[in-house]
Amino acid sequence: MADPITPVLTKRWLSPNSWRLSTYEQLEGYTAIKNALRKPQEQIVALIKDAGLRGRGGAGFPAGVKWSFMPQTSDPARPHYLVINADEGEPGTCKDIPLMMADPHSLIEGCIIASYAMRANHCFIYVRGEVLHCIRRLHAAVREAYDAGYLGNDILGSGFDLDITVHAGAGAYICGEETALLDSLEGRRGQPRLKPPFPAAAGLYAKPTTVNNVETIATVPYIVNGGSDWFREMGTEKSPGPKIYSVSGHVENPGQYEAPLGTTLRELLELAGGMKDGVPLKFWTPGGSSTPLLTADHMDVPLDFEGAAEAGSMLGTTAIMVFNETVSVPWAVMKWTRFYEHESCGKCTPCREGTFWLAQVLERMVEGRGTEEDIDTMLDVCDNILGRSFCALGDGAVSPIESGIKYFRDEFLALCEDNKAKQSDSALVGASA
Ligand SMILES: Cc1cc2nc3c(=O)[nH]c(=O)nc-3n(C[C@H](O)[C@H](O)[C@H](O)COP(=O)(O)O)c2cc1C
Ligand code: SF4
Repeated sequence: MADPITPVLTKRWLSPNSWRLSTYEQLEGYTAIKNALRKPQEQIVALIKDAGLRGRGGAGFPAGVKWSFMPQTSDPARPHYLVINADEGEPGTCKDIPLMMADPHSLIEGCIIASYAMRANHCFIYVRGEVLHCIRRLHAAVREAYDAGYLGNDILGSGFDLDITVHAGAGAYICGEETALLDSLEGRRGQPRLKPPFPAAAGLYAKPTTVNNVETIATVPYIVNGGSDWFREMGTEKSPGPKIYSVSGHVENPGQYEAPLGTTLRELLELAGGMKDGVPLKFWTPGGSSTPLLTADHMDVPLDFEGAAEAGSMLGTTAIMVFNETVSVPWAVMKWTRFYEHESCGKCTPCREGTFWLAQVLERMVEGRGTEEDIDTMLDVCDNILGRSFCALGDGAVSPIESGIKYFRDEFLALCEDNKAKQSDSALVGASA
């Protein structure tokens, strides 16, 4: 059984009207900004570095280090921006929207502290356009924060000014990639930018910008109040802190489970009531469909950034999609590949063409018209996408295919065998006619 932890990020989620300012204030909300706005900016950045907070958007980049890339001075001609990535489009990922629905003020308080630390006076929250209910809730929370003096000019008499703009995207997965997001926010078609320059040098409107995930920033007030040692008591040495694991699929109780980084699938399954109807596990993703599949042999892998990598996958967004023995791996892989084909922005050839052809081959195979050579063709196409695409969408697209073939090659072969058998039957029928 997982070590029971005192909930951190989810502690207010079950309180009545948890999204209201009054509830937030009753439960220690907006106490961290009072603490933070009294300190020099460098001290806040150092605290986040000491805590070892790693980005929760997928790549796990240390947040404090990212913040320290921002210019350390204020220049009115070069305003700084904080942009919150609330696009949440990775298949299986569903932690940021519940967080913003249940406790939007924790994100807003995190935005105030992070903006202060990076000398930004304007913060944008870029939210996936389809989640209208969430956008409305954020707008209402931002309004409450302005009315209470937590946003606007001279916040709590500190001399610090901050505006927050909630911006709705139009529902393209690629707009979760941070530079495509910035293009979209500027009103252009969302496509990734060439790096360098990195956003800290030239981001939104070519000004110094930091892009952080919702969960990353919502964690900040707890670190400010609790301190880095308290934060490091949870999780592992290189991946400290609590994490929201989103468990979906064939489990008894799908949902959000907050646990220390390094928790295993076995422990999470126990929290989620076990496999649905007791049907055994076949495969699962540790962090969304862009992270290589794992199997029942990986149930004791510690789910932190290092543990997932050692097992040949990635922690990604800790979107644990669980599939039982009834699910065909080639079918699931085909569905994901169609998603990537649809969401490829088309900017670079390996991903644009590769995802199209991979989807064609997989569909053919699942419909029983594939050949054994198709498996090698797919691996070859994957090899030409991985590491050769302009952004990480291409790399993510090959993950389910390569890992699916690695662990379940027999299932792909069986589909080809069926096809071979059908063809020789029809040849026999043709010969005898
Ligand atoms: C195709 C693609 C989609 C992405 N979608 C998201 C997303 O929805 N939310 C997110 O926070 N990061 C997403 N990312 C990662 C971001 O580019 C970026 O690394 C992240 O927002 C940084 O925040 P963090 O340092 O707090 O993790 C995506 C990356 C790629 C390549
Ligand atoms: S890898 Fe795909 S999504 Fe990324 S730039 Fe190339 S075409 Fe666009």
